[in-house]
Amino acid sequence: MGYPHRSHERETPVLSKHFGDPAARTLQGWRERGGYVALEKALKMDPAEIQTIVKDSGLRGRGGAGFPTGVKWSFMKPDGKQHYLCCNADESEPGTFKDREIMRWTPHALVEGVALGAYAIYATVAYIYIRGEFTEPLEQVRAAVKEAYAAGILGENAMGSGKTVHVHVHQGAGAYICGEETALMNSLEGRRGNPRIKPPFPAVAGLFGQPTTINNVETLTAVPHILNNGAEWYKQFGRPDNPKSVGTKLFSVCGNAARPGNYEVPLGFNFGEFLWDLCGGAANGREIKAVIPGGSSVPFLTAEECRTAIMDYEGFVAAGSMLGSGGVIVFDDQQDMVRQIARLCRFYAHESCAQCSQCREGTAWTTKIMERISAGDGTVRDFDTLLSIADNMTGKTICVLSDSCATPVVSGLKKFRHEFEAKLKPTPGVVGYGSTATAAAAPRAASPTA
Ligand SMILES: Cc1cc2nc3c(=O)[nH]c(=O)nc-3n(C[C@H](O)[C@H](O)[C@H](O)COP(=O)(O)O)c2cc1C
Ligand code: SF4
Repeated sequence: MGYPHRSHERETPVLSKHFGDPAARTLQGWRERGGYVALEKALKMDPAEIQTIVKDSGLRGRGGAGFPTGVKWSFMKPDGKQHYLCCNADESEPGTFKDREIMRWTPHALVEGVALGAYAIYATVAYIYIRGEFTEPLEQVRAAVKEAYAAGILGENAMGSGKTVHVHVHQGAGAYICGEETALMNSLEGRRGNPRIKPPFPAVAGLFGQPTTINNVETLTAVPHILNNGAEWYKQFGRPDNPKSVGTKLFSVCGNAARPGNYEVPLGFNFGEFLWDLCGGAANGREIKAVIPGGSSVPFLTAEECRTAIMDYEGFVAAGSMLGSGGVIVFDDQQDMVRQIARLCRFYAHESCAQCSQCREGTAWTTKIMERISAGDGTVRDFDTLLSIADNMTGKTICVLSDSCATPVVSGLKKFRHEFEAKLKPTPGVVGYGSTATAAAAPRAASPTA
C-alpha cells in the first residue's frame, strides 16, 4: 500500500495526523478518531453561520491562488437555484503531491470536508474530481463515499438531519489543464477540458450554468478541524505579526532533497530551518543551489534567499517567489538549470489546451529555444527573444498556464544567467560568449535587463 509516511518532530500534524495509519481509512476507524462530529454539528447550523466561522478562521485556498475560503463561500446565497461544490483533486502541478496523500490515508476526512462545504454553500450535490492517474486515492475515496452512503452520512437525510448531501466521485482523464477550475467544470460536463473566459465567475454561472464553488482537497479537509476547534484555534498557527496567513500547510518536498516527502508546518515557519533541519538539505552531502518553493509555476529562490524566507503567502512574495501549491522542488549544485527549465517548458507546452495563441505559440517557441540553448546551439539573441515571448505570454491569456511557462524562464535568466551564457555557441563578431563566457563579458546591448 505505497510507502510509509514518516513525520518529523518539528511538524504540526493536523491534516496529516493519521497519515500512515491504515485503520484511519475505514469509517469505523475514522469515527474512532473523531471523524464526522464536525459534519453532524454543521448540519444543525445555518449555512451562513458556517461561512462566517470559516471567514473568521482566515483559511485561504490551498490550491495555489490563496483566495480566502470563507469569502469565496459567502458569494453563495440561498437563491433557490441548484448549487454545486466541486472538489479539485486533480493535483497535476509538478512537485506537488499532498492532496493524493490526504486521499490515500484519510479519505473520510475529505468526504467529511466535501459534505460540510457543500452544505455551507447551499449545495445538495458535490463532485470530487480526481486526476486520472490516481488509482489508489480514487479507490480509497470511492470506498469512503460508499461507506458514508451506507451509514446514512450522505444522501437524502444526511446524518438524520433532514438535509440532502450527495457526493459523486469523478475520475478525470489525466490532463494538467483540468485542474484549472473552469476547465474542470467543462470536463465534468463531458466536454473538452478547456478553461472558460471569466466573467462569469463560477459563483454566478458554474457547473451546468449554476452557482458553483471550487475548492482544493487540502482546503476542504481543513474545514472540519475549524468547525470542531473554532476560528481562534485555527488562527493560532502562523506568525503573530501576519494575520493574513494562518493555519497549518502541507508542503511536498522533492528533487534533490535528502529527505523528500510531505511535511505539515504552521504558516510562518522559517524556510531555511525547514529545508536544512526537517528535509536534511540536499542529498548525498551536496549543496542546495536553488529551490522552487510553490510548485513549478513560481519563481526560483537561490539557496541564500531560502535561508531567510518565511513560509507563508506574504513571506514568499517578499523573498521574490510565491507559496503557490506548496510543492518544494530542490536543485542541488550539480543540476543544469538550463536543462531543468527546458524540461518545465516542455511540460507546459505539452499541457497547453491551445485556445490562446500567446500560450499555444509561446509555450512551443519557448520550449524550442530553451532546448536549443540547452543543446549548446543558442545565441545571445535568444535571451531577448525568450524575454519578449515571455512578456507576451504573461497576463494576456484565458488562464495562467501561459504565465506559468514564462515564469521559470524569466526567473532562470535573472538568477542563473551565467549558466545560460556558458552554454551559448560562440557567435562570430561577439566577444565573450561561449563556454568560457562570464556575465561580466556580455555586451550591454545583449542584456535583457540593460
Ligand atoms: C493550469 C492550472 C492548473 C491548476 N491545477 C490545480 C489543481 O490540480 N488542484 C487545485 O486545487 N487547484 C488547481 N488550480 C487552481 C484552481 O483553478 C482553483 O484556483 C483552486 O482549485 C481553488 O481552490 P482553493 O480556493 O481551495 O485553492 C490550477 C490552476 C491552473 C491555472
Ligand atoms: S493560457 Fe493556455 S492553457 Fe490556458 S486557456 Fe489559454 S491556451 Fe489554454
